[in-house]
Amino acid sequence: MFSSDEERKEKIEERLKETQKVFGYVFDKFTILNIYKLFTSGTIGKFEFPIASGKESLVFAASKKDKFYAVKIYKTVASTFKNIERYAGQRWGVENTGNKRKFIVQWAHREFRNLNLASDAGVLSPRPIKVVGNILVMQYIGTKRVPAPLMKDCNITKEIVEQTLGEMRTLYIKAGLVHGDLSEYNFLIYRRKPYMIDIAQAIQTDDVMSTVLLQRDIGIMTRFFNKFGYKLDEAKVLKYTTGGSDVFS
Ligand SMILES: Nc1ncnc2c1ncn2[C@@H]1O[C@H](COP(=O)(O)OP(=O)(O)O)[C@@H](O)[C@H]1O
Ligand SMILES: [Mg+2]
Repeated sequence: MFSSDEERKEKIEERLKETQKVFGYVFDKFTILNIYKLFTSGTIGKFEFPIASGKESLVFAASKKDKFYAVKIYKTVASTFKNIERYAGQRWGVENTGNKRKFIVQWAHREFRNLNLASDAGVLSPRPIKVVGNILVMQYIGTKRVPAPLMKDCNITKEIVEQTLGEMRTLYIKAGLVHGDLSEYNFLIYRRKPYMIDIAQAIQTDDVMSTVLLQRDIGIMTRFFNKFGYKLDEAKVLKYTTGGSDVFS
């Protein structure tokens, strides 16, 4: 009895520490003000539950009446900001002037724009709803009880493989973009379909870097799928993704 009380107390203290950390890193004044704007503009009415907490962002499910949204909050005071920082420069249209907040705001807007390009082109990805400062509101992928799982935690059927390659192809041909950070961690599986997420760093296909990034994406996805016994050939996948004939034929 006693030890379980102790254990519970320790757990609570641990969680409290974690909460304080999250509050310090995420809910600075600027972020709180932007959340406030989301409420006053009527974009969202309520936070439902947290979905994920990463190095650079936190994602929540929120709702307005009966409709659910995903709210991605980029941390403006995160200490582990290096991952995003490497994307500074003309290509990504984000300037690193040393002003972290400004940079992050540009980054959130960049993700909004890329999501727009992707979903307009018919790629399965969350439709962007609104971006306010460092906060991006988008279509929520999942049910009211649980968010859609990541591809890494799902059963990889041939249909999933085909559809995923199809989404990559549509992104390339129709949206004119290369994702640049694809993996089984950046696809959600919902109603047995793959949804591409986390697309801020995507670049245009006419960029000099696009081939390298496309090869990288294709290498990672091909190796992942082949772990399940598929025998995809990277060169063929590359050809297919950029407009060539079917990879399975
Ligand atoms: N639109 C969405 N609907 C449901 N869950 C989402 C959505 N967008 C992101 N997530 C969840 O939040 C996590 C982090 O989002 P992501 O955009 O990949 O940011 P990060 O840069 O932290 O990887 C994802 O792994 C996924 O579980
Ligand atoms: Mg991600």
